[in-house]
Amino acid sequence: MKDLQIERERSSYNISGGCTALIVICLLGKLYVANAGDSRAIIIRNGEIIPMSSEFTPETERQRLQYLAFMQPHLLGNEFTHLEFPRRVQRKELGKKMLYRDFNMTGWAYKTIEDEDLKFPLIYGEGKKARVMATIGVTRGLGDHDLKVHDSNIYIKPFLSSAPEVRIYDLSKYDHGSDDVLILATDGLWDVLSNEEVAEAITQFLPNCDPDDPHRFVHFYNCWSRAPDLR
Ligand SMILES: *[C@@H]1O[C@H](CO)[C@@H](O)[C@H](O)[C@H]1NC(C)=O
Repeated sequence: MKDLQIERERSSYNISGGCTALIVICLLGKLYVANAGDSRAIIIRNGEIIPMSSEFTPETERQRLQYLAFMQPHLLGNEFTHLEFPRRVQRKELGKKMLYRDFNMTGWAYKTIEDEDLKFPLIYGEGKKARVMATIGVTRGLGDHDLKVHDSNIYIKPFLSSAPEVRIYDLSKYDHGSDDVLILATDGLWDVLSNEEVAEAITQFLPNCDPDDPHRFVHFYNCWSRAPDLR
């Protein structure tokens, strides 16, 4: 609902643009972790990694995006195809068979290439380079109501959803020590370090920092980042 408020108020405050969101609320002994974007939360409990979110990218959301475009083809402005092909289809391949995936398929099948399939793919690129309608690499977030495909009147917003995934962690179900942590980070961290590397840093260095020190995590960061041969 915040996203509707952002939509209403964006002209009065003259703000455009958007952001992803990763939020934790602690309520009645439970952690509610809400993620709308490509950030990530993990809990490290006694050295064990407990994922608390999953990232929303054009690749992880392929089927939702394709289904939306299949149900509402006008959203593609006659410029894009909702089908996925292993690579860009070329005009000379008209009438030939090629592998494709639709919204309701996890595996690939063959189809005969038609004119429609020559349009630019709704989802194109791999990994960090994957984009929706050649524009954005994140598929959940707040704002960006005016974002359009370059040089067109095609809005990105219906594909960019503000609906978060919420995971709940019941604190009372487990014993927690002073070295157990919840980590929230953007791709700034996760592009560089894996969950395992972060967990290792925590289990190696956090126990050396005094649990009663109010600056414990600053000290943790300082001694971890200064440690030799870590990366
Ligand atoms: C997927 O949906 C399309 C369109 O409704 C349908 O024609 C096709 O048979 C479906 N494919 C599968 C594998 O269910």
